[in-house]
Parts: sequence; C-alpha cells; structure tokens
Amino acid sequence: MGYPQRIAHFLVGRGGRNSENMAADKTVFETYLHRLDEGDWAEALDRILPRIHPADSRATRIWFAFWPLKLRLALDRAPDPAQVLKELQLDGKPRLEEQIDASVAFLFGSNYWPEVKQAVAAYAEESSDPGEAGLDAHILKLAGRLAGRLQVEQPLLTGIVAVGVMVLRQVGLSSLAACAREPSPNGRPKSAAEVLKLRKGRGWKSLIWKSKKYRVTFDESIPESCYEALDGQDLSMASGNDPRDFRESDPRRVAGPVPVQCRSGACGYCWIGVLAGEQNLSEMTAFERRRLEYFGYAPPAEFALKHPAVRLACQSKCYGDVSIVVPPWNGVLEGRSPVASSDGGD
Ligand code: FES
Repeated sequence: MGYPQRIAHFLVGRGGRNSENMAADKTVFETYLHRLDEGDWAEALDRILPRIHPADSRATRIWFAFWPLKLRLALDRAPDPAQVLKELQLDGKPRLEEQIDASVAFLFGSNYWPEVKQAVAAYAEESSDPGEAGLDAHILKLAGRLAGRLQVEQPLLTGIVAVGVMVLRQVGLSSLAACAREPSPNGRPKSAAEVLKLRKGRGWKSLIWKSKKYRVTFDESIPESCYEALDGQDLSMASGNDPRDFRESDPRRVAGPVPVQCRSGACGYCWIGVLAGEQNLSEMTAFERRRLEYFGYAPPAEFALKHPAVRLACQSKCYGDVSIVVPPWNGVLEGRSPVASSDGGD
C-alpha cells in the first residue's frame, strides 16, 4: 500500500527502507507485525469488526483512527522529529508511548486492559512462526484464549485485543511489558449492557425536550464530563459555551472541552470520535469529507458513511444526545487537496 504524500516524504528520510524489520531484538511475532502496512491493518480490522461487541465496535474504529500506523511511521523514521511536528502541523500529544493506558480508556474492553497487555506480550514472546495466518486470525486466536481464561464473552475482548496488538506494533514489546502491571485507568461501568443503556441517552424523549437542549458527553468514565448543545447547534460552538477551564488537561482546549480554532473546517483542531448518538448529528457533507481526507483523520472506509466514527465538531450539528471522544492530537497527515470551500451536502 502506498503512503500519502506528506508521510512518504518522511519515510524516504532514511532511505525508504524499513530497517526496523531487521532489528535483532524483535520477537518473531513483532517482526511479522512490522511487515504489515496500513492496508493490511485496515483489512484485518474490517474482518474482525463484526466479531466485536456493540459496546466497543465504534470505539475500536475510533481508536484505530486516533492512532494510525502512518503517524507512528512518520514519527519514528524522520531524521528530525521536530521537523515532523512542524511539517505535519502536529499539536497536542501525538506520541502513543506517552499515553498507552489513557489511549484505551474510552473502550469498554479497557476493563480488561492489564490482562490484555500481559496476554499480548506473552503471545509475542512465544516466538512461534506466525505462518500463513492473517493478522485477524492472530487477533481472534488471542482474544479467544484470553476469553477462556477470564471467562468472559470473546466479543468483549476482540476490539481491545486488536488495540493491544497495534500498541505492540507501535511501541514495542519492552514498552508494552513495562506498563503491563499498571492499573487500568477506566472508571466506566463494569457491564457492557450498562454502557449501551447509558449511551442510549434520552432517545426519542430528547426530541420533545421543551428547551431543545441535548447532552454531549465527552468522557463516559466521568459523570460531569458533558456539556449542553442547543437544537441544530454545532458541537464546537456548544463546547465553547461550557464555562469550565480545560486548559490544564489539554492546552488546546482554550474554549470548552473540544479544541477549536477556525470553526470553519480549515484547521482540523476539532476532530472527534463519535461513540454513540451518531444519528443525532447532521450527516457528513461533501465538504466535511474532503476536509477529513485532507487531514488524514480516518481510513477510507469511513468516508463512505453518512455518520462516520470520526467527525469535525464544527461541521456536526446536534439534534439529540451524543457521546464523543476528543483525540489528544491534531495535524495534517495527508494534505493532498487544497482547502475547499464550504459547499454543503453530498
Ligand atoms: S475548528 Fe477548525 S476545523 Fe473545526
């Protein structure tokens, strides 16, 4: 699979060869993972998505959008990391190794994260020949094994195991093992059914809510992590009306919990993952899709959807309760199309 213009620029910085594959300190499984490209991961994810519990199917898509392999490759292989940050206009915290545990907190499967990390590390150390099995087969095998050991339904583990394998690919076995004993950061309900019930929000009742104000939840693990949106108000404008100061948690959050700058689709600061209530947002327009493609924020499969897992908050009008996730970084990973004008729908 080819890489976009901006990323390819950094890949050739060291001669365009994946020298990591040849490193002697990698296990056989890690070396196998390093041979896979972005397309291989996308295909594997497509195959396992139907096998992931509904509590985590969108969350898994969002995690993989937040932490694409192309970002990792750009950060790893550029001769001058500062130049990468500048040329990709990266802001926030784009390094997964600095926030491994925090990155999975919005997945229900993070309730099992310590066990998942240990299981992935152990699988990598088995050093048996991966053979002809595809990546999805390895993920499902690992999830099945762990489900049996923990006595939980396998679909509850499939998404978080896929995430664990990608974390292994991106940070390496030593970093994964180093954090394997840390407690899970998750404060969410312990039952997947409870998570789905909470995400239902007020459902149809919100449509006849007298004041036509809707609830936008931006961290499901903390009850007060929500703000109000008026009927038809975009999520970034509504976020700006939240009087609380969020800059200590993220300096990009200068006006409410969602980082914003332009509020017109130009800067890419306001990208979000939509965990639930996606049907309560306006459909993605052609303009928003082009901007998401420009920033490289979502895999191509998302662009075919009216309600993708990744949106721009400033382009998403709110008509009901919604649960979102704010990524810790923003930037321009693709940048192949010029800034387009806001020309409305599909
Ligand atoms: S705030 Fe700039 S793209 Fe939404």
